[in-house]
Amino acid sequence: MNDYYIEQIYKMNAGKNKKARINTFGCQMNAHDSEKLCAMLIAMAYEITESNDADLVLFNTCCVRENPEDKLFGNLGYFKNKKENNPDLKIILCGCMMQQNHIIEKIRHSYKFVDVVFGTFNFHKFPQLLFNNMITNSQIIDIWNEPKDYQETFSPQRKYFFKASVNVIYGCNNFCTYCIVPYVRGRERSRKSQDILDEIKFLVDDGVKEIMLLGQNVNSYGLDCGDNFPSLLRKINEIKNLERIRFMTSHPKDLSDDLIFAMRDCEKVCHHLHLPVQSGSNRILKLMNRKYTREKYFELIEKLRANIPDISLTTDIIVGFPNESEDDFANTIDLVKQVEFDGAFTFIYSKREGTPAARMLNQIPAEIIKTRFANLLEILNSIIAEKNKKYFGQTQKILVEEYDNGKLTGRNDKNVLVHFYGEKNLIGKFVDVKINDCKPFYLIGEKLGG
Ligand code: SAH
Ligand code: SF4
Ligand code: F3S
Repeated sequence: MNDYYIEQIYKMNAGKNKKARINTFGCQMNAHDSEKLCAMLIAMAYEITESNDADLVLFNTCCVRENPEDKLFGNLGYFKNKKENNPDLKIILCGCMMQQNHIIEKIRHSYKFVDVVFGTFNFHKFPQLLFNNMITNSQIIDIWNEPKDYQETFSPQRKYFFKASVNVIYGCNNFCTYCIVPYVRGRERSRKSQDILDEIKFLVDDGVKEIMLLGQNVNSYGLDCGDNFPSLLRKINEIKNLERIRFMTSHPKDLSDDLIFAMRDCEKVCHHLHLPVQSGSNRILKLMNRKYTREKYFELIEKLRANIPDISLTTDIIVGFPNESEDDFANTIDLVKQVEFDGAFTFIYSKREGTPAARMLNQIPAEIIKTRFANLLEILNSIIAEKNKKYFGQTQKILVEEYDNGKLTGRNDKNVLVHFYGEKNLIGKFVDVKINDCKPFYLIGEKLGG
């Protein structure tokens, strides 16, 4: 019944030049949800703005680490002042952080000026909740503990006309001991493969050339419904006029030989794999409940490189997990040096209320973590910079994303950023670019063929 509420709000807003600002925190899953919320706002006669002078501000929140939380409450203080001057300003909160009871209590008691709050399982109800707030002018909080009648309703408002994200699986069953995601996103739910294929075909007809398949753990796709990710990839690879397939994130424990073979065989699947390792110490991996060892991880890397020699490998690493000793950390450094990652996200361990790791004894002091973190970063940066040099003199196929003042930016199939000169009309097209300078985190090149 979303259409009814959208129409009602559209009528209230029509001709009033209403503007909405969306602030998105967190991962690509959240970014994709925001694209859906954005489409709803446009349908309700809001113009999307980057300015804080808006009639509606929406925060799609993340709680995977502490920082984003502090940032949100800081931001809310600012908008509280704005609302004192403009009582019609609507403040909306949604996303993962809202699935936590202590946050909802805090909002109920100390942030009464917030208008609408909803969570990860009912964000399709946004128009109805906003409508209720507009009619009653009171705070509306609606949080579900599990997905009930979720429907893929809204065609997301894409940032780029030529690339799109597609959810394949929601939730996570892994319960890594440090991680809040399974608590705020629920158990794994795979979408039907036919629905995924239909959505991608629709997107390709609409001009999309590259798709990103999304899931907290894409390679456990289908385990809940008798399907599997490699076979989904093979089917997607058959879609005419689609040119590139990416996916994230993969969990090492579920990386099957079949998936490696599918990546090798499907010419549209990019030769890039994000495979978070988290730690190089078996003792810590066990405490993290990651369900693999460093030896198993090395084995996977070897198999991947044997089957797909030019594969680019990136990872996530957490520094300072409870009990991490100097020896454990040295094992992480050793793993990083042996694998030679092409890219990495490094995180300082952040204690998340309600997770098993938060209750572990022997939390590591901040100064020790800081030193380890800096040490890891320095080693990673020099490895990544060195690995990027291999592109020198090579011709890379780049999908152009942005234009600024005569300069184009795009990505190769390994997801590395490439800058070169060219015309704006190349946005959304594939261009051959000869690389003539390799910076640590991006490449500079020259367009071939005039
Ligand atoms: N589902 C994905 C990643 C989800 S969160 C996976 O399992 O690979 C993205 C990254 O955030 C994780 O890979 C992890 O490195 C980091 N992360 C999650 N919880 C964290 C915490 N409590 N403290 C620090 N980093 C964390
Ligand atoms: Fe979190 Fe682990 Fe699930 Fe990733 S696999 S979302 S790190 S619990
Ligand atoms: Fe954050 Fe939720 Fe993603 S906690 S990392 S936005 S799944």
